[in-house]
Amino acid sequence: MAIVSSAAVSGSGVPARRPASPAEPAPRLLDASAQPGDGADRDTGVGSDLPQREDSLRPRRLAEYIGQRELKQVLGIAIEATRSRGDALDHVLLYGPPGLGKTTMALVLAEELGVRCRITSAPALERPRDIVGLLVNLQPRELLFIDEIHRLNRVAEEILYPAMEDCRLDLTVGKGTTARTRSLEIAPFTLVGATTRAGALSSPLRDRFGLIQRLEFYDLGDLQAIVARAAGLLELQLDAEAALEVARRCRGTPRIANRLLRRVRDVAAVRGHGAIGQQLVAESLSLHRVDARGLDASDRRLLTLLLDGHGGGPVGLDTLAAALGEDPTTLETVVEPYLLQLGFLQRTPRGRIATDAAREHLGWDAAA
Ligand code: ADE
Repeated sequence: MAIVSSAAVSGSGVPARRPASPAEPAPRLLDASAQPGDGADRDTGVGSDLPQREDSLRPRRLAEYIGQRELKQVLGIAIEATRSRGDALDHVLLYGPPGLGKTTMALVLAEELGVRCRITSAPALERPRDIVGLLVNLQPRELLFIDEIHRLNRVAEEILYPAMEDCRLDLTVGKGTTARTRSLEIAPFTLVGATTRAGALSSPLRDRFGLIQRLEFYDLGDLQAIVARAAGLLELQLDAEAALEVARRCRGTPRIANRLLRRVRDVAAVRGHGAIGQQLVAESLSLHRVDARGLDASDRRLLTLLLDGHGGGPVGLDTLAAALGEDPTTLETVVEPYLLQLGFLQRTPRGRIATDAAREHLGWDAAA
């Protein structure tokens, strides 16, 4: 499993098909499936955003992917149509809260199409040569996955436009009055963009995706099935009630479910439990301060601040973030979505409000 370096861009701005020199670090990039279907490591965790532990539990095929029915249906049709035409799949934008399986779905798409998936993230594409290097090295029909695509800089975005539309790079060669634009043909490819903030994408970029799909929080039944599958892969004896207890506490998010399952496994190992039941799950996760609805310390601090400090709100996002010592974007994209989903929080034009359901959950008198 190799970390693939980008092709370098020559001094004139023309990309050369050679690896970047050691003096010029390549953008963080993962060659996610060296040979499709060969079972090769898709993820070393070295220099990548994909921890190996997480990768070992990922579904590899669409049929193994639990939940997200509409997404699977839409992509299943697109895959079949693409296969029958022999084309590259249309560009795909996946958006939604973190941990719901955007990267996993990109890897599944590559596996289904029998092509490689190159994985990078927008902050790693700082210089024009980073994105150019990636694009010129793509083989026909390969996938390029760009995480956090809303963070792409303008120059990189503008390089992407003709690449996405016409498989063409428009490169400037030379400087000042002698500068010329040269076009370079590249292989037809599929860009899979992922973002937690679809609204932060520029409309010219968003409009170039043929498929735009939101990933939703998973329901309890799907989460229970995901936990049971992961338990099987980890060779744990976990009964159905125990799987449901993990499902209740994972904020609708498979990545968190798998993380919690590993914490339960630790407690079971230390206490010498072979079989894991609901009680052990509840105890283990309470120990980690994850409550019966999956709220953690950050959630409780947010709700307590609203209820205790501001009579339930409304309070502006920036005020809340400053009081909690959190970054407003993290609060908005990571902490709040699950509280909104539970109906514990409301966003209003005047700020955030903690609901009666939140009061009740935290053991406050709802009428107070
Ligand atoms: N593991 C993480 N996400 C999953 C999913 N959607 N289906 C099956 N296993 C998973």
